[in-house]
Amino acid sequence: MVYIAPSLLAADFAELGSELKRIEGADMLHVDVMDGRFVPNLSIGPAVVEALRRRTKLYFDVHLMMEDPLPYISVFRKAGAGTITFHVECGEPPQEIIAAIKASGARPGVALSPRTPVSAIGSWGEDLKQVTVMTVEPGFGGQKMLLDPLRKIIELKIRFPWLMVEVDGGVNLETAPLCKAAGADILVAGTSVFQAEDPYLEMRCLAI
Ligand code: DX5
Ligand code: ZN
Repeated sequence: MVYIAPSLLAADFAELGSELKRIEGADMLHVDVMDGRFVPNLSIGPAVVEALRRRTKLYFDVHLMMEDPLPYISVFRKAGAGTITFHVECGEPPQEIIAAIKASGARPGVALSPRTPVSAIGSWGEDLKQVTVMTVEPGFGGQKMLLDPLRKIIELKIRFPWLMVEVDGGVNLETAPLCKAAGADILVAGTSVFQAEDPYLEMRCLAI
């Protein structure tokens, strides 16, 4: 059983309302937030998340690619985030960020960029609900999956068996089986779902 999380980044930003309709049947919506500093790209902020919240009942899985996520946690929670994921490489103390996410009422997650080892997760890992294994360098959709990080899924399942493990970047019909075989619980899929003629069929195929 794997959950499919279409990534909003691959949607047509001029048509967000109708793009939400195209992904009906998804398990959750993956929302990429980029600050132009942690990654060399900008995406969307809380105003867009809040507007989408009014249009859909989908659970929001918010991925913060930000240098200083702390001031924005309660803002994204109020805007409708269910899970809030920060990058362990962001530079702010993980314990503080996790405490802020928990205090906001959201589920805390941490993301590991492709070259970051599982050992970057300290004892604070016990407070997490989710880990995102990045299989592309964060910042842009539509990249090819790096296969090496997939071994981290197995390592995570050994060290933190209660955690949901999400794979983010380059998931498509060819790479999804590898992620599932390694034990992934959530597959983020941007390009493959939004560029499919039939996104529902694509999601079902990814989930098999
Ligand atoms: C990359 C983002 C991903 C990305 C995935 O920085 O975190 O969520 O949108 O897009 P695809 O599926 O196109 O690789
Ligand atoms: Zn993401």
